[in-house]
Amino acid sequence: MAPSPVLFLHRHLASLPSKTFFFVPATLALFTTLSILFYIFTSSAPSVFYPHKHELHLEQPFVYFQPSPSTPSLPSNGFKNGSFLFPAKSPSNAFGDGGGGGGSNGTVSQVSSRSHFGPKGSSVSNIGVFHDGDIFLDDYREMNRSFKIYVYPHRRNDPFANVFLPVDFEPGGNYASESYFKKALMKSHFVTKDPRKADLFFLPFSIARLRHDHRVGTGGIPSFIRGYISNISRKYPYWNRTGGADHFYVACHSIGRKAMEKAVEVKLNAIQIVCSSSYFVSRYIAHKDASIPQVWPRTGDPPNIATCKRNKLAFFAGSINSPVREKLLEFWRNDSLIFTNYGRLKTPYADELLGSKFCLHVKGFEVNTARIADSLYYGCVPIIIANYYDLPFADVLNWKSFSMAVVTADIPSLKKILQGITSDEYSALQRNVLKVRKHFQWHVPPTDFDAFFMVMYELWLRRSAIRISNG
Ligand SMILES: *[C@@H]1O[C@H](CO)[C@@H](O)[C@H](O)[C@H]1NC(C)=O
Ligand SMILES: *[C@@H]1O[C@H](CO)[C@@H](O)[C@H](O)[C@H]1NC(C)=O
Ligand SMILES: *[C@@H]1O[C@H](CO)[C@@H](O)[C@H](O)[C@H]1NC(C)=O
Ligand SMILES: *[C@@H]1O[C@H](CO)[C@@H](O)[C@H](O)[C@H]1NC(C)=O
Ligand SMILES: *[C@@H]1O[C@H](CO)[C@@H](O)[C@H](O)[C@H]1NC(C)=O
Ligand SMILES: *[C@@H]1O[C@H](CO)[C@@H](O)[C@H](O)[C@H]1NC(C)=O
Repeated sequence: MAPSPVLFLHRHLASLPSKTFFFVPATLALFTTLSILFYIFTSSAPSVFYPHKHELHLEQPFVYFQPSPSTPSLPSNGFKNGSFLFPAKSPSNAFGDGGGGGGSNGTVSQVSSRSHFGPKGSSVSNIGVFHDGDIFLDDYREMNRSFKIYVYPHRRNDPFANVFLPVDFEPGGNYASESYFKKALMKSHFVTKDPRKADLFFLPFSIARLRHDHRVGTGGIPSFIRGYISNISRKYPYWNRTGGADHFYVACHSIGRKAMEKAVEVKLNAIQIVCSSSYFVSRYIAHKDASIPQVWPRTGDPPNIATCKRNKLAFFAGSINSPVREKLLEFWRNDSLIFTNYGRLKTPYADELLGSKFCLHVKGFEVNTARIADSLYYGCVPIIIANYYDLPFADVLNWKSFSMAVVTADIPSLKKILQGITSDEYSALQRNVLKVRKHFQWHVPPTDFDAFFMVMYELWLRRSAIRISNG
């Protein structure tokens, strides 16, 4: 029953200093040793090792390594205790903002992306919004040219066409990201009708739409998914040959986490692109899965982003549905600088986000909410209070350059932490907010570097190098 071990090579970004890691279960120890030596010998970068989360699941037939050592996916608590790296005066390596593609100081930005693990306050300057903008840009272009996805086909008259086909309206609401992604993918040049050319296979079911389908409903989703995987694995050869490791699905609603309960191979092998990307949840496997941002769709730019006066230090609005929010309430409910609103907001939400320097993203039921994208949209620097949140696009974006994470334990010192940020530091953070905004927006049709292309890039980092061609 268990698929035979297959050697998976992770093809790295061509320009990366390190070479490929590889893995075969039976000889893990030996290969790990070899790959460490290999890394040391081939790496031109400072030899810092990342504590990757690649714990072994014995029932897991395929184990991937993190895509690349120089584009680490960092847990949000990598920001430890309100510290952040000040993006100094130097021009950032962010392209697309007049930078024209880099000019970044490769050496320095290599070091800076690694300095999370260095001593606090190490002399890092030159922090841009990317871990390495040059590598990203080159590799992104390569992705744009050559990445191919096969989408399991479904007819318009399929009884579950509503679940499998993209919606024919503009997606809305909290879980719109899922719909936007499918809509954009299906019309994109990434889709191939020839499965032999495919790097990855897309499972096109929509968790959000299954949830509202009375034939299925929340409780019926796990059985539906099991049935679907069983169907495609009998009808097509692609699932069985990798145990699903070159397949992916996208889900924004947190119910998606439970959806794979009866299809354990999906959970263990396939690439899960989800909003509820918490390291704390056993269903999310950080080295193979990835985070998709939860975005409340808004069109155009807010008119007053440049002129607004940010008089409030920090702002939060939301219901009290978690211990973290209770703690925030306990300490800051009557504060004159940190505005916390529970229940109905009396002023327009947009005005609050435009009128505050920092906007709090506080874990509720889940680590994810649309508040990060909301803050970025309104030019407010996000403060993330959600331990173990695998932040969207963390392989690429240097979150410390435009946001700050505060561990839950430090809620009592929140004000001190925020007041400790100088106005120069704040300006740098806010400038970077404006640079990364475009990565947290969806468009129909998609535009370069928007949320769709960023998710495609995360998938590209997770593809495997060996094409299996028996089909
Ligand atoms: C964070 O730093 C403050 C002082 O700077 C310290 O009192 C506090 O215990 C630290 N919190 C954690 C979680 O390390
Ligand atoms: C890159 O950094 C090195 C070392 O700090 C410095 O000597 C060099 O001038 C920098 N190059 C550019 C293009 O900024
Ligand atoms: C990506 O591909 C599309 C379609 O071919 C093209 O319009 C776009 O300019 C490309 N973007 C980059 C950065 O290469
Ligand atoms: C699986 O295939 C059967 C038979 O064609 C069909 O009745 C069922 O709806 C399919 N299930 C899913 C989840 O697609
Ligand atoms: C894939 O494996 C399943 C379970 O072993 C089997 O039922 C199915 O027929 C296989 N599919 C193909 C296309 O051989
Ligand atoms: C906030 O105000 C309420 C009533 O106005 C009071 O009961 C509560 O103790 C205050 N909380 C704090 C943390 O000061």
